[in-house]
Amino acid sequence: MLDLSALPPGFIWGAATAAYQIEGAAAEDGRKPSIWDTFSHTPGAVDNGDTGDVACDHYHRWPEDVALMRRLNLDAYRFSIAWPRVIPDGVGAVNKAGLDFYDRLVDALLAEGIRPFATLYHWDLPQALQDAGGWPNRATAEAFADYATVVAARLGDRVADWNTVNEPLCVSWIGHLDGRMAPGERDLTRAVHTSHHVLLGHGLVNQAIRASARLSPNVGIVFNLSPIEPGSSRPEDMAAAVRADGHTNRWWLDPVFGRGYPADMIECYGVEPPVREGDLELIAAPTEFLGINYYFRQIVVDDPEGKAPFARQIPVPGSVETAMPWEVYARGLEDVLVSVAETYRPRSILVTENGSAWYDTVEPSGEIQDKERTDYLEQHLEAVRNAILRGAPVDGYFAWSLLDNFEWAYGYDKRFGLIRVDYDTQQRTIKASGHRYADLITAHRRSR
Ligand code: NOJ
Repeated sequence: MLDLSALPPGFIWGAATAAYQIEGAAAEDGRKPSIWDTFSHTPGAVDNGDTGDVACDHYHRWPEDVALMRRLNLDAYRFSIAWPRVIPDGVGAVNKAGLDFYDRLVDALLAEGIRPFATLYHWDLPQALQDAGGWPNRATAEAFADYATVVAARLGDRVADWNTVNEPLCVSWIGHLDGRMAPGERDLTRAVHTSHHVLLGHGLVNQAIRASARLSPNVGIVFNLSPIEPGSSRPEDMAAAVRADGHTNRWWLDPVFGRGYPADMIECYGVEPPVREGDLELIAAPTEFLGINYYFRQIVVDDPEGKAPFARQIPVPGSVETAMPWEVYARGLEDVLVSVAETYRPRSILVTENGSAWYDTVEPSGEIQDKERTDYLEQHLEAVRNAILRGAPVDGYFAWSLLDNFEWAYGYDKRFGLIRVDYDTQQRTIKASGHRYADLITAHRRSR
């Protein structure tokens, strides 16, 4: 029996989503294209040619989705705000109808006693800003702060909890170096410049929220972190693991915690981040929490012929894999939480995402008995509990995801939801994992 009594009494139980993955209504009420509209409409970019045009139609079905959150007993809901709805050209005119949507959503959440956690950037850069140079261009970080000011001024009387940027690694390395996500570039210099401007954007937005929100804000950036292990004790593989750790973890954590960019990685990339005077101070300005998304560990070997960081992930023989296919390794979550707590001493950590995709089957009764997802959830909650017992200040957990949704370049086949979405009818069904999550939340609440 899973014993969660060691979780603090005020532990925040949540679920997460992101705008482009669920909203749909891509051209409604003044929204203009983002880089993900462009990318998903590029032939061959996304599996099955899927796009976010309709997604879960959450833009219209949000009242039903808030009611489902209540049925899951959630304390909190982490969602993202679509910049191309709020400022469709990226800079300039504010689209009132776009802001109104989030205003209604926030009011509905509060009416249900659900605490809104708003993410300001979950990858949907307005296409107009991409056309003007995108994240490799410093002006994009400044535009990000202007957009955040608009949102915080409107919602900051009711929203206290803000995530600045979700997963800068994906924006920078997967979007600009590997080309597997929007905008689909493969250029190391532009990727390194992006990484700095995204972190600078975080720093500017941290400042902007404090200047314009009325409630005293809790601000944090969200990193996707992985424990890294060498594939062998060969010196080359050990060195590759240090580089992979630099690329995945230290490149982001070090500057945010005041250590600047890791020198070994600047040497590995052979590219200097375009730091100007004052940038590192802005990036390292205090925040209330660190968000950590955890999905898998990486076991790596040296890859001198590959691209930076010249380390290749190898499969783990005999491991259980999700549909992604990612190894199920709950111990990695415990290790990441403890090592970040010990190395960087954040005031508070939130697990802002954790979850798994499986090929669910719908029983003739309509039920979804997703035992693998339930097991995954329990194992990872146990890992959070263990990390807390080892001293990590973890104050909340957000399951990824509330709903099945548009899994970026993998399209709709990869289902992460605690709630199933039938994309033909838009019918929602709480899966067994969702019911289990609701029960665990209730049991923990009773024990506090
Ligand atoms: C992290 C991302 O933030 C989210 O958008 C994505 O769907 C999940 N990982 C699963 O890949």
